[in-house]
Parts: sequence; structure tokens; C-alpha cells
Amino acid sequence: MNTQKHVCPLCDYIYDQARGDSFYGIAPGTRFENLSEDFRHGDCEATLDMYETCTCASLTGDEITGAAPRFSKKDSIQKIIDSYPAAIEVFKKHGVDVEDGCLFSVRHLPVEECTELCGVEDLGRIIEDLNASLLPGFDNLSGKRSLGDLVAENADRAKVFDEFDLDYCCGGKLSLEEACDKNGLELEAVVMRLRQSDCCASTAASFVDAGLTELVDNIESTHHKYLKEELPRLEKLVEKVAKVHGARAPQMVELAYLFRNLKEELVQHTLKEEMVLFPYIRRLDSEVVTRPAQFGAVVNPIRCMEAEHDDAGKALVKIRQLTDNYTAPENACSSWVALITGLESLDKDLRTHIHKENSILFPKAISLEERRVLV
Ligand SMILES: [Fe+2]
Ligand SMILES: [Fe+2]
Repeated sequence: MNTQKHVCPLCDYIYDQARGDSFYGIAPGTRFENLSEDFRHGDCEATLDMYETCTCASLTGDEITGAAPRFSKKDSIQKIIDSYPAAIEVFKKHGVDVEDGCLFSVRHLPVEECTELCGVEDLGRIIEDLNASLLPGFDNLSGKRSLGDLVAENADRAKVFDEFDLDYCCGGKLSLEEACDKNGLELEAVVMRLRQSDCCASTAASFVDAGLTELVDNIESTHHKYLKEELPRLEKLVEKVAKVHGARAPQMVELAYLFRNLKEELVQHTLKEEMVLFPYIRRLDSEVVTRPAQFGAVVNPIRCMEAEHDDAGKALVKIRQLTDNYTAPENACSSWVALITGLESLDKDLRTHIHKENSILFPKAISLEERRVLV
């Protein structure tokens, strides 16, 4: 990877060859020597021949998960926010009222002029904070971390993965880098959205610190309860739509068949969890277990549950295809619309459900058993 960088002596803008510059439509990997002679950064007057090779150690390396520092006091607030929406939080922190008329009346101006107009003196700190927030290690959004782990830490990140069609439940063991690679996505773009989400998140529900009993109680009282109520209702709807519209929409007949199978598998699956696995996990959480369970180590039923999760995940992919990504036809009857809406909710709930089990509950149970079981 080409990591050579060049720094502007007037405004400290850094051009990173490895990353190019999405502000200016310069593709990653574009060599500095190949930039247009007319290239100017913001309103800065510096020409390319004035740039110097950047040797700053903190700005190099292939471990970068986000963009290299690139904001300068010459950039307009509008441009910064367009490129990096999470910058709003940095401006707010420094007293630049981004919600008020102040910003909107001057948003086209460079940061230095805007902050003067707003009476903010600590301009250097704003730029420093903006750039620091883009450095690797500022947050925990390393591309090496697994999708499941990232969502376990902050549940709101699931929405970002949904936007990019990244499977954080059954595919939750893949690292962010691997998942982006597999789906042809720019890691930087995903990290940027994750940062934005982290900044805007209110109080994201995180289960990572919850105890095992609390987790199984939560899963049963939310996701299992939801399935018990929703699966029979959706089954009636899908049967009805297949019966009435199946002749001209054969995919609905296939959908009904697929749904029946999924429902049966989920009923059996949740029953096994509630009758066998979860009671054992509750025991593990409350006492020292002196006898091994009938199934041996907890990892045995867990691997079985994970395999069944994978099957459910595959069924969801097929359901999405058959419903045109949960889109009802224009002339669809109300049952059809209700079915599509219900299936989309089922998809979301099931993925959250599987994520909680695969990425939070199961690893914790395996680890607790290693410490608790005395045989
Ligand atoms: Fe479950
Ligand atoms: Fe499960």
C-alpha cells in the first residue's frame, strides 16, 4: 500500500496518496505527482510545488481504519460537515452553535472566519480535535474487530451495518475488514458512518455488560415472546396471500413454503434454548456446577444453535429475494402489505436476536463455564 503523504506548508492540509481525497474526487492510490497542477485545497493559495513530503510517524501505516487528518482552518464548515457529519459534535463541543442561524448564515465560509464571527477563539483546538477524531485509535472502530463485537458494544451500529447490507448476526464473526472486502465496500466509508452513528447515538442499548441471567431473561422476554406472537400471525397472512394471489405471483407460493419451514425450525430452536441451554446458563450464572451437563460442555449445544442460526439467516436472505427486498407491489392488497411489513420486522428482530446470542451470550457462557465447572 502506498502511504506517502504530502503536507501543505500554508494550511497543514495533508494529501495521502493511499487514500486520495473524496472531497475532490481523487481516487485512492492517485500519486501526488499525478495530481492536476490546478489542484488547490479549499481556499488555500498553496500550489503543489510548495507541498512537502510528510514524515510524521503518527500519520503513516497500513492500520489506518479511517481517513488521515485532512481538515484545515481554510475548509468551510459546510464542506467539513458534508464529508464528516460527526464533525457537528466537535463544533458543538467548542461552542460553535451548529443548530442556530450562526452556522447557516456563515456555513459557506472557512472555519477560521466562521469561528471569529461566532466569537470562538480556540480555532486551533477545533481543527486539532477534528483531525484527531479521524486518527486510528481515537475510537474503537478498528477494521480488525468483528461485526458482532462492534454491535455488542453499541447496538445502534446494527443500523449502519443494515444500511450497507453487512450481516452482523450470522456473519458476526467476520472482521469489519473482511466483511467490507467480501461485499466490495470501502472500509473507510463504513467506518465514517459508524463514527457518525456513534456521535449521534443517544443512549444505545448495550448488552455487553449484562450478566448471563439478565441476557437470557431479556432474550426470552423480547425475542422469543415476539416469535411466539408473530410467527402464527405471519403464517396465516402468507398462506392467505399465496392462496389468493399465488396464480399470478408464484413467488408467494414459494414464500409460503419457505416460511412454514422457517417457522417450524424456529419453534423447535427456541424450545431447545428455553428447555435445555438457557436453564443451564442460568445455573452456571448462579452456582458452581459440580456435575457436567447431559450434553457435555456448553459449547456443544451452542455450536448446534449457531448452525441453526445460520440456516435461519439463509432463509431470511431467500425471503428478502422473494419479496423484492420487502417491497409490496403497487396494487397489493392490505394483507400483502401487512405481510411484507411483518416479514421485514421479523427480519430485523431475528437478526438482533441472533446477534445477541452468537456474539454476546454464547461467548460469555463458554467463558463462564471454563471458570465455574468443577468436575
Ligand atoms: Fe433464541
Ligand atoms: Fe437462538
